[in-house]
Amino acid sequence: MPYSKNYDVLIIGSGGAGLSLALKLADQSTHVAVLSKFALTAGSTYYAQGGISAVFGADDSIESHIEDTLAAGAGLCDPEIVRLTVTHGKSSIDWLRQQGVIFTEEKTKSGEKKLHLSREGGHSHRRVVHAADATGKAVSLSLIERAQEHPNIELFEYHNVVELITAPDSDQTGKRILGAYVLDSKKQHVKTIAARAVVLATGGASKAYLYSTNPQSSTGDGIALAWRAGCRISNMEFMQFHPTCLYHPKAQSFLISEAVRGEGGKLILSDGSSFMQHFDPRGELAPRDIVARAIDHEIKKRGIDCVYLDISHKSEQFIREHFPTIYQQCLEFDIDITKQPIPVVPAAHYTCGGVLTDSYARTDITNLYAIGEVACTGLHGANRMASNSLLECLVFADRASEDILQKLPCISPIPEIPDWDESKVSDSDEEVVVSHNWDELRRFMWDYVGIVRTDKRLHRAMSRVELLKKEIAEYYSNFRVTSDLLELRNLVIVAELIIRCAQQRKESRGLHYTLDYPELDNSKPPQNTILTPEHLR
Ligand code: FAD
Ligand code: SIN
Repeated sequence: MPYSKNYDVLIIGSGGAGLSLALKLADQSTHVAVLSKFALTAGSTYYAQGGISAVFGADDSIESHIEDTLAAGAGLCDPEIVRLTVTHGKSSIDWLRQQGVIFTEEKTKSGEKKLHLSREGGHSHRRVVHAADATGKAVSLSLIERAQEHPNIELFEYHNVVELITAPDSDQTGKRILGAYVLDSKKQHVKTIAARAVVLATGGASKAYLYSTNPQSSTGDGIALAWRAGCRISNMEFMQFHPTCLYHPKAQSFLISEAVRGEGGKLILSDGSSFMQHFDPRGELAPRDIVARAIDHEIKKRGIDCVYLDISHKSEQFIREHFPTIYQQCLEFDIDITKQPIPVVPAAHYTCGGVLTDSYARTDITNLYAIGEVACTGLHGANRMASNSLLECLVFADRASEDILQKLPCISPIPEIPDWDESKVSDSDEEVVVSHNWDELRRFMWDYVGIVRTDKRLHRAMSRVELLKKEIAEYYSNFRVTSDLLELRNLVIVAELIIRCAQQRKESRGLHYTLDYPELDNSKPPQNTILTPEHLR
């Protein structure tokens, strides 16, 4: 049977990256499908707090934004990609405002309105454009509303990609993309969706860890899909841990924005003493890797559960105006942040590595693109600077749209694709295997492949990955796919990729810190870690 659906472009992911691209393409008469494995707001974008970095301040400059990004990236950023991204900051914010996003403004002395800029770790200037402390929600809802009313966009919720479909390229040297097999999780049916170009916009992989700031969707599916299809994956050892996730038995994954520190929030111990000055002269505003490691150090050294973030020296009005979401959420847990310090711990937050792309978001497979957190563009190097991620989503959506629009007329029609074969599988009788393996994986990743690593811990983690991979492969080949099984199958691949990258880096750099090689290796130029699937070699 021919494929169930056929589009110009299939975009997998409805976050900031996916929807920006969909709108840009659809505005140019391109017929686009956008998938989300859960609701349209499922990705990290909806939860972003601090904002989007862009040069607007009178005392700020593109050069300064570039310099700060390069410094945070610890020698591994691609300077050309950094320049390309940073120079598109202002136009990206302008585009979002055209889509209806309302950012926080302030009045100048002369009574005019201008964007309010906040400050975050690693930034030497105020340059974070934001919508109070719920920037992602403002961006997400505006883009969804525009996409829903666009005649050239079809949105599919609860559609989870099982596998990418590829074929040999016309010159037989590589592969081209044909579409994807997609599980409609509501109907429990696998569809075939054909498209002349496919874009991975599936977000990051922080759910590989027990404690994470990310929503449920961040299981690294795009990275695993691309890897299985034959793409190179890069820099997966650089998993970013956000220093300040709310520590409360009933709070799940609630972030306390870095903007709280940007506005003067102090990190303290339970006796009120501060400690960041012992780790970095920039104190609370040092880049994230340094702050997260400092907190981890204090927690482990003292055997305590958490440290505290105190902003209560600011006026109640200031706090409620700048951090309304954080204020309300903490109040629900009986923490009044205008009077009390907030208990915080580090948690997995951002995937700096991912599917290797060029400056037009192209991957190793012809007409397959990757944008947003799933991609490794070279912008973040060994450590992403705060609020550079949403900017990257917007800039690379733009770059991909440019390339896709130029290529589409030349891409030949998609040939017939065989249907997904379910004839040899049955319904699972032991779902517990999936939930047990999921818990186990996230726990050993936290314990052995977290903020501080060693060769021994990585080796232990890899042994467990190998066992889990076998068990999951057997389960996958015998039983009908479910959303949970698909995520677990992807997560175990992502865990393997993180560990393999970490094992290859025999130094500590940026977010990768190992007690066995605690220093930078300055004997050779800094190198990215690039994993190539066996069948591509
Ligand atoms: P996401 O927004 O994560 O979207 C992924 C999409 O892919 C979802 O629609 C999901 O359903 C879909 N998907 C995934 N797998 C599949 C599959 N198999 N099949 C179908 N669909 C799939 N960055 C900043 O720059 N500034 C901030 O202030 C900021 N704050 C943050 C706060 C929090 C709490 C978190 C978690 C992150 C924050 N970040 C911030 C990071 C930033 O939000 C993300 O990097 C960015 O939003 C990623 O966007 P994305 O479009 O790539 O992916
Ligand atoms: C935050 O608000 O602290 C998150 C910012 C980011 O991850 O870029």
